[in-house]
Amino acid sequence: MTQSMRQDWAGQVDFDRLPRHIAIIMDGNGRWAKQRGLPRTAGHKVGSETFRKIATCCRDLGIEHLTVYAFSTENWKRSEDEVGAIMRLLKQYLLEAIESMERDNIRLRFLGDLSAIAPELRKLVERTNAISERMTGFQANICLNYGGRDEIVRAVRAFAADCAAGKKSAEELTEQDFACYLDSRGIPDPELIIRPSGEERISNFLLWQCAYSEFYFCDTLWPDFDEEALKQAIISYQRRDRRFGGVK
Ligand code: IPE
Ligand code: IPE
Ligand code: MG
Repeated sequence: MTQSMRQDWAGQVDFDRLPRHIAIIMDGNGRWAKQRGLPRTAGHKVGSETFRKIATCCRDLGIEHLTVYAFSTENWKRSEDEVGAIMRLLKQYLLEAIESMERDNIRLRFLGDLSAIAPELRKLVERTNAISERMTGFQANICLNYGGRDEIVRAVRAFAADCAAGKKSAEELTEQDFACYLDSRGIPDPELIIRPSGEERISNFLLWQCAYSEFYFCDTLWPDFDEEALKQAIISYQRRDRRFGGVK
Protein backbone atom coordinates (compact mmCIF):
# COMPACT_ATOMS: atom_id res chain seq x y z
CA MET A 1 0.00 0.00 0.00
CA THR A 2 1.53 3.27 -1.14
CA GLN A 3 1.50 6.54 0.80
CA SER A 4 -1.05 8.06 -1.60
CA MET A 5 -3.28 5.03 -1.21
CA ARG A 6 -3.18 5.39 2.57
CA GLN A 7 -4.17 9.04 2.19
CA ASP A 8 -7.07 8.00 -0.03
CA TRP A 9 -8.25 5.51 2.59
CA ALA A 10 -7.90 7.95 5.49
CA GLY A 11 -11.16 9.75 6.12
CA GLN A 12 -13.13 6.89 4.60
CA VAL A 13 -11.78 4.04 6.70
CA ASP A 14 -11.25 4.04 10.45
CA PHE A 15 -7.83 2.43 10.81
CA ASP A 16 -8.52 1.80 14.50
CA ARG A 17 -11.57 -0.37 13.77
CA LEU A 18 -10.28 -2.66 11.05
CA PRO A 19 -11.29 -6.31 11.17
CA ARG A 20 -8.59 -8.55 12.64
CA HIS A 21 -9.53 -11.28 10.23
CA ILE A 22 -10.88 -10.99 6.69
CA ALA A 23 -11.93 -14.07 4.70
CA ILE A 24 -12.48 -14.11 0.95
CA ILE A 25 -14.18 -16.56 -1.41
CA MET A 26 -12.03 -15.88 -4.47
CA ASP A 27 -14.71 -16.47 -7.10
CA GLY A 28 -15.24 -15.49 -10.73
CA ASN A 29 -11.98 -16.53 -12.38
CA GLY A 30 -13.74 -18.69 -14.99
CA ARG A 31 -16.23 -16.01 -15.99
CA TRP A 32 -13.47 -13.40 -16.19
CA ALA A 33 -11.61 -15.62 -18.67
CA LYS A 34 -14.76 -16.48 -20.64
CA GLN A 35 -15.55 -12.78 -21.13
CA ARG A 36 -12.15 -12.44 -22.80
CA GLY A 37 -12.39 -15.60 -24.87
CA LEU A 38 -9.58 -17.15 -22.81
CA PRO A 39 -9.38 -20.60 -21.21
CA ARG A 40 -10.59 -20.79 -17.59
CA THR A 41 -7.02 -21.44 -16.48
CA ALA A 42 -6.04 -17.93 -17.62
CA GLY A 43 -8.57 -16.59 -15.11
CA HIS A 44 -6.99 -18.65 -12.34
CA LYS A 45 -3.57 -17.27 -13.22
CA VAL A 46 -4.69 -13.64 -12.97
CA GLY A 47 -6.71 -14.57 -9.87
CA SER A 48 -3.57 -15.83 -8.17
CA GLU A 49 -1.91 -12.48 -8.86
CA THR A 50 -4.92 -10.73 -7.32
CA PHE A 51 -4.41 -12.84 -4.21
CA ARG A 52 -0.79 -11.67 -3.91
CA LYS A 53 -1.87 -8.02 -4.26
CA ILE A 54 -4.72 -8.24 -1.76
CA ALA A 55 -2.61 -10.18 0.75
CA THR A 56 0.08 -7.47 0.58
CA CYS A 57 -2.55 -4.77 1.04
CA CYS A 58 -4.04 -6.55 4.08
CA ARG A 59 -0.59 -6.96 5.57
CA ASP A 60 0.20 -3.27 5.05
CA LEU A 61 -3.09 -2.32 6.69
CA GLY A 62 -2.18 -4.35 9.76
CA ILE A 63 -4.90 -6.99 9.30
CA GLU A 64 -3.76 -10.05 11.31
CA HIS A 65 -5.38 -12.83 9.27
CA LEU A 66 -6.46 -13.17 5.66
CA THR A 67 -8.19 -16.46 4.87
CA VAL A 68 -8.80 -17.36 1.25
CA TYR A 69 -10.81 -20.14 -0.35
CA ALA A 70 -8.44 -21.54 -2.96
CA PHE A 71 -9.90 -24.99 -3.67
CA SER A 72 -13.01 -26.61 -2.21
CA THR A 73 -13.79 -30.27 -1.52
CA GLU A 74 -16.32 -29.91 -4.38
CA ASN A 75 -13.86 -28.42 -6.90
CA TRP A 76 -12.55 -31.92 -7.78
CA LYS A 77 -15.63 -32.12 -10.01
CA ARG A 78 -13.83 -29.87 -12.52
CA SER A 79 -11.74 -31.13 -15.42
CA GLU A 80 -8.34 -32.65 -14.72
CA ASP A 81 -6.88 -29.86 -16.78
CA GLU A 82 -8.38 -27.13 -14.63
CA VAL A 83 -7.58 -28.86 -11.31
CA GLY A 84 -4.00 -29.41 -12.51
CA ALA A 85 -3.64 -25.75 -13.45
CA ILE A 86 -4.89 -24.58 -10.03
CA MET A 87 -2.49 -26.95 -8.25
CA ARG A 88 0.42 -25.69 -10.37
CA LEU A 89 -0.40 -22.09 -9.46
CA LEU A 90 -0.46 -23.06 -5.81
CA LYS A 91 2.88 -24.74 -6.17
CA GLN A 92 4.28 -21.62 -7.82
CA TYR A 93 2.96 -19.47 -4.99
CA LEU A 94 4.47 -21.74 -2.32
CA LEU A 95 7.86 -21.72 -4.02
CA GLU A 96 7.81 -17.92 -4.00
CA ALA A 97 6.57 -17.86 -0.40
CA ILE A 98 9.42 -20.09 0.76
CA GLU A 99 11.82 -17.47 -0.63
CA SER A 100 10.09 -14.40 0.84
CA MET A 101 8.20 -15.33 4.04
CA GLU A 102 11.19 -14.91 6.29
CA ARG A 103 12.08 -11.50 4.91
CA ASP A 104 8.46 -10.30 5.18
CA ASN A 105 7.75 -12.01 8.53
CA ILE A 106 4.72 -13.79 7.06
CA ARG A 107 3.03 -16.94 8.28
CA LEU A 108 1.10 -19.36 6.10
CA ARG A 109 -1.47 -21.86 7.40
CA PHE A 110 -3.40 -24.42 5.43
CA LEU A 111 -6.96 -25.39 6.22
CA GLY A 112 -8.51 -28.45 4.63
CA ASP A 113 -7.83 -32.13 4.14
CA LEU A 114 -4.31 -32.16 2.75
CA SER A 115 -4.16 -35.97 2.65
CA ALA A 116 -5.69 -35.82 -0.84
CA ILE A 117 -3.11 -33.35 -2.17
CA ALA A 118 -0.18 -34.48 -4.32
CA PRO A 119 2.89 -35.40 -2.18
CA GLU A 120 5.01 -32.82 -4.01
CA LEU A 121 2.66 -29.99 -3.03
CA ARG A 122 2.34 -31.37 0.50
CA LYS A 123 6.11 -31.23 0.91
CA LEU A 124 6.08 -27.54 0.01
CA VAL A 125 3.29 -26.99 2.55
CA GLU A 126 5.46 -28.66 5.20
CA ARG A 127 8.36 -26.39 4.29
CA THR A 128 6.20 -23.27 4.66
CA ASN A 129 4.86 -24.65 7.98
CA ALA A 130 8.39 -24.95 9.30
CA ILE A 131 9.18 -21.35 8.33
CA SER A 132 5.85 -20.09 9.74
CA GLU A 133 6.68 -21.52 13.16
CA ARG A 134 9.53 -19.03 13.46
CA MET A 135 7.52 -16.02 12.18
CA THR A 136 5.22 -13.70 14.12
CA GLY A 137 3.65 -11.37 11.53
CA PHE A 138 0.70 -11.33 9.16
CA GLN A 139 -0.90 -14.74 8.61
CA ALA A 140 -2.41 -15.94 5.35
CA ASN A 141 -4.68 -18.96 5.77
CA ILE A 142 -5.18 -20.91 2.56
CA CYS A 143 -8.19 -23.21 2.30
CA LEU A 144 -7.10 -26.10 0.12
CA ASN A 145 -9.30 -29.15 -0.43
CA TYR A 146 -11.40 -27.41 2.18
CA GLY A 147 -15.08 -27.87 2.97
CA GLY A 148 -16.77 -26.57 6.10
CA ARG A 149 -18.73 -29.79 6.54
CA ASP A 150 -15.67 -31.94 5.96
CA GLU A 151 -13.76 -29.89 8.53
CA ILE A 152 -16.52 -30.43 11.11
CA VAL A 153 -16.74 -34.18 10.39
CA ARG A 154 -12.95 -34.56 10.73
CA ALA A 155 -13.12 -32.64 14.01
CA VAL A 156 -15.92 -34.90 15.31
CA ARG A 157 -13.87 -37.98 14.40
CA ALA A 158 -10.82 -36.66 16.25
CA PHE A 159 -12.94 -35.75 19.27
CA ALA A 160 -14.60 -39.20 19.29
CA ALA A 161 -11.17 -40.83 19.16
CA ASP A 162 -10.07 -38.77 22.19
CA CYS A 163 -13.24 -39.85 24.02
CA ALA A 164 -12.58 -43.51 23.19
CA ALA A 165 -9.02 -43.07 24.50
CA GLY A 166 -10.42 -41.68 27.76
CA LYS A 167 -8.85 -38.23 27.16
CA LYS A 168 -12.13 -36.34 26.75
CA SER A 169 -15.70 -36.67 27.88
CA ALA A 170 -18.64 -35.90 25.60
CA GLU A 171 -20.68 -34.44 28.48
CA GLU A 172 -18.05 -31.81 29.17
CA LEU A 173 -17.57 -30.63 25.57
CA THR A 174 -17.94 -26.87 25.12
CA GLU A 175 -17.94 -24.75 21.96
CA GLN A 176 -14.41 -23.57 22.74
CA ASP A 177 -13.16 -27.15 23.21
CA PHE A 178 -14.75 -28.23 19.97
CA ALA A 179 -13.20 -25.33 18.05
CA CYS A 180 -9.77 -26.71 19.05
CA TYR A 181 -10.46 -29.75 16.83
CA LEU A 182 -11.12 -27.62 13.75
CA ASP A 183 -8.47 -26.76 11.15
CA SER A 184 -8.89 -23.14 12.24
CA ARG A 185 -7.79 -23.78 15.83
CA GLY A 186 -6.14 -20.69 17.29
CA ILE A 187 -7.40 -18.38 14.52
CA PRO A 188 -10.02 -15.80 15.56
CA ASP A 189 -13.33 -16.02 13.67
CA PRO A 190 -13.46 -13.73 10.62
CA GLU A 191 -15.30 -10.48 11.28
CA LEU A 192 -15.76 -9.94 7.54
CA ILE A 193 -16.33 -12.46 4.73
CA ILE A 194 -16.14 -11.13 1.17
CA ARG A 195 -17.53 -12.91 -1.88
CA PRO A 196 -16.98 -11.22 -5.23
CA SER A 197 -18.44 -12.37 -8.58
CA GLY A 198 -22.11 -11.71 -7.86
CA GLU A 199 -22.82 -15.07 -6.22
CA GLU A 200 -24.44 -14.74 -2.82
CA ARG A 201 -23.82 -18.07 -1.15
CA ILE A 202 -21.36 -19.62 1.28
CA SER A 203 -20.41 -22.69 -0.83
CA ASN A 204 -19.26 -24.70 2.19
CA PHE A 205 -16.79 -22.03 3.43
CA LEU A 206 -16.03 -21.60 7.18
CA LEU A 207 -19.44 -22.91 8.28
CA TRP A 208 -18.58 -23.00 11.98
CA GLN A 209 -16.47 -19.84 11.99
CA CYS A 210 -18.97 -17.59 10.15
CA ALA A 211 -21.57 -17.69 12.95
CA TYR A 212 -21.32 -13.91 13.49
CA SER A 213 -19.34 -12.77 10.45
CA GLU A 214 -20.48 -9.79 8.40
CA PHE A 215 -20.98 -10.74 4.75
CA TYR A 216 -20.08 -8.50 1.84
CA PHE A 217 -21.01 -9.37 -1.72
CA CYS A 218 -19.96 -7.49 -4.84
CA ASP A 219 -20.22 -8.08 -8.59
CA THR A 220 -16.52 -7.64 -9.38
CA LEU A 221 -14.93 -10.85 -10.66
CA TRP A 222 -11.96 -11.94 -8.54
CA PRO A 223 -9.25 -11.19 -11.16
CA ASP A 224 -10.55 -7.58 -11.25
CA PHE A 225 -10.79 -7.26 -7.46
CA ASP A 226 -8.38 -4.57 -6.23
CA GLU A 227 -7.51 -2.33 -3.30
CA GLU A 228 -10.48 -0.08 -4.09
CA ALA A 229 -12.86 -3.07 -3.90
CA LEU A 230 -11.29 -4.10 -0.59
CA LYS A 231 -11.70 -0.54 0.71
CA GLN A 232 -15.40 -0.58 -0.23
CA ALA A 233 -15.87 -3.88 1.64
CA ILE A 234 -14.19 -2.47 4.75
CA ILE A 235 -16.24 0.75 4.56
CA SER A 236 -19.42 -1.36 4.38
CA TYR A 237 -18.24 -3.47 7.33
CA GLN A 238 -17.53 -0.39 9.43
CA ARG A 239 -21.06 0.94 8.86
CA ARG A 240 -22.68 -2.15 10.33
CA ASP A 241 -24.12 -2.46 13.78
CA ARG A 242 -22.86 -5.75 15.18
CA ARG A 243 -25.13 -6.85 18.01
CA PHE A 244 -24.25 -10.53 18.54
CA GLY A 245 -27.80 -11.23 19.63
CA GLY A 246 -27.82 -8.44 22.20
CA VAL A 247 -29.52 -5.05 22.29
CA LYS A 248 -27.61 -1.83 21.76
C1 IPE B 1 -12.95 -19.39 -8.35
O1 IPE B 1 -13.30 -19.07 -9.65
C2 IPE B 1 -11.72 -20.26 -8.28
C3 IPE B 1 -11.98 -21.63 -7.83
C4 IPE B 1 -13.14 -22.12 -7.52
C5 IPE B 1 -10.82 -22.51 -7.74
P1 IPE B 1 -14.21 -20.01 -10.51
O2 IPE B 1 -13.33 -20.95 -11.26
O3 IPE B 1 -15.25 -20.67 -9.68
O4 IPE B 1 -14.87 -18.97 -11.50
P2 IPE B 1 -16.37 -18.96 -12.02
O5 IPE B 1 -17.26 -19.00 -10.82
O6 IPE B 1 -16.52 -20.20 -12.86
O7 IPE B 1 -16.47 -17.70 -12.79
C1 IPE C 1 -16.18 -21.56 -4.11
O1 IPE C 1 -16.42 -21.21 -5.43
C2 IPE C 1 -14.84 -22.23 -3.99
C3 IPE C 1 -13.67 -21.38 -4.22
C4 IPE C 1 -13.67 -20.13 -4.49
C5 IPE C 1 -12.40 -22.06 -4.10
P1 IPE C 1 -17.18 -22.17 -6.44
O2 IPE C 1 -17.21 -21.47 -7.73
O3 IPE C 1 -16.60 -23.52 -6.40
O4 IPE C 1 -18.64 -22.24 -5.78
P2 IPE C 1 -20.05 -22.48 -6.46
O5 IPE C 1 -19.95 -23.72 -7.29
O6 IPE C 1 -20.35 -21.29 -7.29
O7 IPE C 1 -21.01 -22.60 -5.32
MG1 MG D 1 -17.11 -20.09 -9.13
